[in-house]
Amino acid sequence: MKRIAVFTSGGDAPGMNACIRAVVRGACYHGIDVFGIRRGYNGMINGDIFQMSSHSVSNIVQRGGTILKSARSKEFMTVEGRQQAYEQLQKFGIEGLVAIGGNGTFTGATLFYDEFGIPTVGAPGTIDNDLYGTDYTIGFDTAVNTALEAIDKIRDTADSHDRIFFIEVMGRDSGYIAIQSGIAGGAELVMVPEVLTPISEVVETLRAGWSRQKSSSIIIVAEGEEEGSASEISEKIRKRVQSDIDMRVTTLGHIQRGGVPTAYDRILASRLGLGAVEGLMNGQANVMAGIINNELVYTPLKDTIRLPKPISEDLLRMVKILSV
Ligand code: F6P
Repeated sequence: MKRIAVFTSGGDAPGMNACIRAVVRGACYHGIDVFGIRRGYNGMINGDIFQMSSHSVSNIVQRGGTILKSARSKEFMTVEGRQQAYEQLQKFGIEGLVAIGGNGTFTGATLFYDEFGIPTVGAPGTIDNDLYGTDYTIGFDTAVNTALEAIDKIRDTADSHDRIFFIEVMGRDSGYIAIQSGIAGGAELVMVPEVLTPISEVVETLRAGWSRQKSSSIIIVAEGEEEGSASEISEKIRKRVQSDIDMRVTTLGHIQRGGVPTAYDRILASRLGLGAVEGLMNGQANVMAGIINNELVYTPLKDTIRLPKPISEDLLRMVKILSV
């Protein structure tokens, strides 16, 4: 393998830059020419491809976002788009790819590999932590810490006014950000898509708190929650409890995607970026580099998106025990 390219795709995640740096510097170390592709699959289709050097990735390890920019490409979902992308890669003599992204990125990479056989190794970059084959994804730890900082601040005002706050966090269909930020932030209840929490249980939890003289409560709602968004849930609760109970809703939104990556995310991203390059060199194809129990492992891309990554029941149980 003499020439590879790296790109970031899908929702950006803090630590993606540290991963790009590791890919580029790892390739340089091994004497491989490395190219960057801008704006994910869109850049591949349009030939927005440029050579990178060790110097191109100076001073980025600490930066959020992605210097390669990102996109969710509709065109790449068509055969014509993928054909065009293949032709561009041929033009540049690219023999292998490192794809940094999540679900959608790896779905595209799998199709592309099946049709054109260009070996791809993925590095899991998404705040959602919803990929099988790695304990954590790049950006998740930073997102949890961002959410936690917000929860801590909301707790101050919730406590001062004796209010109930419903705080909605990101995660698409996954409750990982919710459960981790909820535990760390001492939430009274965490509602995740993986486990049904009926409205009656939320009401019961609040009532139990009131009977213990608890005057404020924080309920974390994952965005994919079955009972609805945080504001829909708060409306449902309002109908069941006294109307004078003071409730507020905060949706944290995209602040969870930005910011300086934590040390954990930078280290994870560095290991996975180098692991992806060395995987390609050793003949890995159509797999994702991940870290399980502190060991670098490669998992077929199709398994990373197909297999479930359940939330530990123990964590959910713990929220209930510790919120008493
Ligand atoms: O996958 C990352 C993520 O931030 C999800 O948590 C969220 O559902 C989605 O992306 C938001 O996407 P967009 O930035 O396109 O609004």
